[in-house]
Amino acid sequence: MTDPGDGITTIDTAKAHSARIYDYILGGKDHYPVDAAAAEQVLKVLPGARQAAHANRGFMRRAARLLARRGLRQFLDVGTGIPTRPNLHQVVQEVVPDARITYVDHDPVVLRHAEALLRGTPAGRTEYIQADVREPEKILAGAREVLDFDEPVVVSTIALLHFVGDDADPRGLLEALLEPLAPGSALMLSHGTADFDPATMAGIVEIYRANGVLLRMRSHAEIGELVAGLDLLEPGLVALEEWPHEPEDEALDTAGTPVYTCVGFKR
Ligand SMILES: C[S@@+](CC[C@H](N)C(=O)[O-])C[C@H]1O[C@@H](n2cnc3c(N)ncnc32)[C@H](O)[C@@H]1O
Repeated sequence: MTDPGDGITTIDTAKAHSARIYDYILGGKDHYPVDAAAAEQVLKVLPGARQAAHANRGFMRRAARLLARRGLRQFLDVGTGIPTRPNLHQVVQEVVPDARITYVDHDPVVLRHAEALLRGTPAGRTEYIQADVREPEKILAGAREVLDFDEPVVVSTIALLHFVGDDADPRGLLEALLEPLAPGSALMLSHGTADFDPATMAGIVEIYRANGVLLRMRSHAEIGELVAGLDLLEPGLVALEEWPHEPEDEALDTAGTPVYTCVGFKR
């Protein structure tokens, strides 16, 4: 584990945080009253939020499994979240036991629970870096210690980039993360959207804003711009409920999830 020492290690229990609101919505235990209160407001406006959060994690599992079955064995998961079984390494190492995974998050609560992310297979390797996605150089420097950039790496940004405003240039961040990686590397992405229900999602954005968390929902066209230049796997950038799954994947209630998903490959 890296020693952060950069001001993102102190837990502020008076302020809601995206990772902990999400943890509450998923039914986890690692949040504070302020996060629970914000999450309850979200659930009032969007009663399907719990189902949507589980559907989002289901997409993570499906995409990771699909890529592992295609032979990808290195993953860089940015915006990991508070550990929730199965974590990405458990999904991937079930298919590829010697897979290597580097996890990244900026929430000090994730750091506190990171040991749960480090219990992988003996053949594989997992590591955790405390960093912000807006620090791609720091992320890449840490990831290089675990991952071989001469071989394809999957960058995973699942329900992350809607917490990154336009001023932070999310496309530039993705480009920076993918730039040093070998051709054949991939991106798996899910991203919140107001396309399907603008009024409800405006309410959700306002709840996060009032709790000090920026939420930038993006349209299909805007998310398409983030991933432009990648070869998207069929069916392309689609609503989560349209993402296909293998017969052996678990059943999930994905209807109406306000999230777009895609998997793309670097040429
Ligand atoms: C909604 S959770 C998603 C967790 C997990 N990827 C999933 O889909 O189940 C968003 C995560 O992104 C993290 N996050 C938000 N902004 C971030 C940033 N600027 N840098 C790094 N992580 C960030 C939060 O701490 C949180 O853990």
